[in-house]
Amino acid sequence: MLAALVSLASQVAIASNGMVVSAEPHATKVGVEILKAGGNAFDAAVAVGFALAVTYPQAGNLGGGGFMVAMDAEGNFYAHDFRETAPAAASRDMFLNAKGEADPNLSQRSHLAVGVPGTVEGLVRTQHRFGRLALREVMLPAIRLARDGFIVHERLASNLRSSDSLLRRFEATRTSFYRGGSTIAAGQTLKQPELARTLERISYGGRAAFYEGPVADAIVQEMKRGGGIITHEDLKTYRSQWRVPLVFDRHGYTLVSMPPPSSGGVTLAQILAFVDPAELRTLGRNSTMYAQRMAEAQRLAFADRNEHLGDPDFVDVPLDRLLSQSYLNARKATMPKNSAGKSENVRAGRFEREETTHYCVADSEGNIVAVTYTLNGSYGMGAIVPGAGFLLNNEMDDFTSKPGSPNMFGLVQGEKNAIQPGKRMLSSMTPTIVLKDGKFALTIGTPGGSTIITTAAQVFLNVTVFGMSLKDAVDSPRFHHQHLPDRIDHERDAFTNSALAELRKLGYTLQSRGSMGLVAAIQRLPDGRYLGTYDRRGYGTAEGY
Ligand code: GLY
Repeated sequence: MLAALVSLASQVAIASNGMVVSAEPHATKVGVEILKAGGNAFDAAVAVGFALAVTYPQAGNLGGGGFMVAMDAEGNFYAHDFRETAPAAASRDMFLNAKGEADPNLSQRSHLAVGVPGTVEGLVRTQHRFGRLALREVMLPAIRLARDGFIVHERLASNLRSSDSLLRRFEATRTSFYRGGSTIAAGQTLKQPELARTLERISYGGRAAFYEGPVADAIVQEMKRGGGIITHEDLKTYRSQWRVPLVFDRHGYTLVSMPPPSSGGVTLAQILAFVDPAELRTLGRNSTMYAQRMAEAQRLAFADRNEHLGDPDFVDVPLDRLLSQSYLNARKATMPKNSAGKSENVRAGRFEREETTHYCVADSEGNIVAVTYTLNGSYGMGAIVPGAGFLLNNEMDDFTSKPGSPNMFGLVQGEKNAIQPGKRMLSSMTPTIVLKDGKFALTIGTPGGSTIITTAAQVFLNVTVFGMSLKDAVDSPRFHHQHLPDRIDHERDAFTNSALAELRKLGYTLQSRGSMGLVAAIQRLPDGRYLGTYDRRGYGTAEGY
């Protein structure tokens, strides 16, 4: 039955009453089930978030954090920040080795890498504020999937296999994801009884059932066992934040996106301000000069991102200046017109692919919910909390371990994003809602580390400037520049050979790489129905009713 559901999975759907798009077919179905049961888009989004924690362990999570951007039926906007925080015992230089160098093993693979998780608080608070159904009702599908199991998809099986060296270090992780010494194979049933019990507890007890009591005890015990620093007090005092959404007009549309501590909205707003839609249309999508304009826009925006952005509860983030028209105009005027600019050369970082996940839900009343959440790296730092069944994040690597040293995504960041107790690490997550003439037009979001922002910009331009269908806009090849390292990363088929040669002649360094992002998107069609689309790069689905 479940295998049949997977084989029926589809990446494009059109429906009138509601739409769910997520990275994993079972989770998409859970969202639709909740909508059909009378839940609104918030109920469904919470249900999908808990379901992905079961069926998409590479990024779905209880032990991580994320962001939600939403619009309610009355046209009010919301931004919910449930990003992880640094534990109270965290310190600025905690990831430096004896030689004073940033040690990625500490910031990515050790128990010190774990930020205080925000997802459970984020989902539960969202449900309490906006949901129509009981928390227990929206969590039941996730509980069932954990308790009764689900058939493992080939993509999950291969993803687990490729993360073997990260995962096999921990006994509780081996117990969950391994069979006879190897990671679970495609077609086998994955049951997660401990995770089911944790979900049960949350479904009855809300946030306290995670941040206090036996689950909190299990987290703290795992920290002590593995040399981590999260305490009972860190967990008990964790709070998500309702932020003022970042709203800006670009190219005849209004975009509603995530403000700091995500850099997503600000950087997207800057990139789109640095390009001229009429010129891009004339140049042609992914032509040599289109790539030049976009790469220079991205370079400029990321230079600001890496220097000026951080957690606004801790550092001054000059949003007004960064987004003022005069500043944007002055910055734009510095962009080279016919050649490559120059950033300093630094060692390249590795890029995230499926390590974060984005999903979106729309309902018949006009509520729209876009959520990006993550463990940071695929499966976080790899450890499942014994007795509680969920993976721990390695989000602390998103802080600046050492100014000038690249993080997991090759991002070279500054002082504003230095580690401080209780502070949120700067993110690139960009859940975004787009309006035309004040009405919902489109919602987009994606995983992809630093490429999240440039992917969102390109999908937006594909739809609004190039008039592409949503599926083509999402599926078409992409590229990325983030100031440092000074190069354009591109999907293999992003440019023609002659465009590649011309870009090199202009002075760009180019690097071909696997794939960028896994976009989930919903668009309002002219007849009022929703069109949902998932990215060809993944195995997620769109489903409506
Ligand atoms: N963990 C990736 C990000 O938040 O940008």
